[in-house]
Amino acid sequence: MVIKPKEFFKSKRSWSIMKDRILGWYLIPYLTKVSKLKKMVVVVDGFAGKGLYKDGSEGSPIIICKTIEKLRNKGVKAVAILVESNRECFNELKKNIKKYEDSKIAFPEFGSFNDLVPTIIEETEGLPVFFYIDPFGIKSLEFEKLERIFEKVKRYSTEVLINFNYKAFRRVAEVCPELTKKVMNGIWYREILKNKSLSDNQKEEMILEKYKDLYRKYFNFLGSCPVMYKDEQNAKYHLIFATSHFDGLRLMNNKMGDVYRDFYNKGRLFDAIPPGKRRDLKLLERDILDLIKEFGTINKEHIKKIIMPKLFMRYKESDYNKLISKLIKEEKIYSETGRSRINGLELISLTKFPKESEK
Ligand SMILES: C[S@@+](CC[C@H](N)C(=O)[O-])C[C@H]1O[C@@H](n2cnc3c(N)ncnc32)[C@H](O)[C@@H]1O
Repeated sequence: MVIKPKEFFKSKRSWSIMKDRILGWYLIPYLTKVSKLKKMVVVVDGFAGKGLYKDGSEGSPIIICKTIEKLRNKGVKAVAILVESNRECFNELKKNIKKYEDSKIAFPEFGSFNDLVPTIIEETEGLPVFFYIDPFGIKSLEFEKLERIFEKVKRYSTEVLINFNYKAFRRVAEVCPELTKKVMNGIWYREILKNKSLSDNQKEEMILEKYKDLYRKYFNFLGSCPVMYKDEQNAKYHLIFATSHFDGLRLMNNKMGDVYRDFYNKGRLFDAIPPGKRRDLKLLERDILDLIKEFGTINKEHIKKIIMPKLFMRYKESDYNKLISKLIKEEKIYSETGRSRINGLELISLTKFPKESEK
């Protein structure tokens, strides 16, 4: 199935709403925090589209520009580079974001994202950049080309939110193995696809995890959220988030989790989330206890840094805090000060800490 821009921009689909809620929400804390570096922050929408859908709903370029405009009043300095390669879409985009172009918030660029990357990298040298990469399918995601972004920008507060369309990957893998090889940076995925003992869901999970591993060379933290079809259990695509800052992951963990659970449970009487993805606090408790056992002593922040990327989105940060306090109260674990409400850096252990007088 080839998606035509004309069809796509008629009205916003349920999965696009989910994606935009994540983008729009996240940019506020990201821009606010990163602007403390006292540098211009750049948001690059690599596959911008028209800006507005026929039904009047806002696309990513408007969501980005509106957020920047709001934050400018609070002293945040940021701009948006909006790339679009389809002439008709670009012309519409220009019209729809004129107000933001006039106020020097938006800089629309006509052309292919991949072709424009070297210029964008040059123009944003030394600045923190947030890349939003939302193409149709996987054609424009050749990994070597993305790596140019990752390599250049890994020194700065740069983050990436990327739409990885697994279904498109499956289709392309059948008909264009050469292109798929470039997108996946190798042919490692073929073994998984061929493996008859794996279900389709298992294949999807394994390939997604291994695909995310490609990013680990450049980013410290990775998380992803399935973006769903309304009323279906299948992911339309996966929104992958890559950052080198734990604060970014922490925020996305909470937000993606909320959006995911909300999307799944809205209008349903029972928890429709697949069992393997449910917020089962017993499992989190076990993982935390195992980790404390492994480390001997460890602090809360360290626990979150290890478990949150692994169980991304499944638990809110408040779950970690409440659970650790509960375990201290139940004397299953102990804090250095003996208090159950502890800060992120206080050590905890499975055994009591010696009192000052006993040391
Ligand atoms: C999924 S849509 C983007 C939707 C947009 N993020 C939104 O929220 O409204 C993908 C867009 O990328 C454009 N496009 C396709 N290939 C491109 C390329 N190589 N470089 C830049 N834009 C491209 C398409 O014309 C289309 O408008």
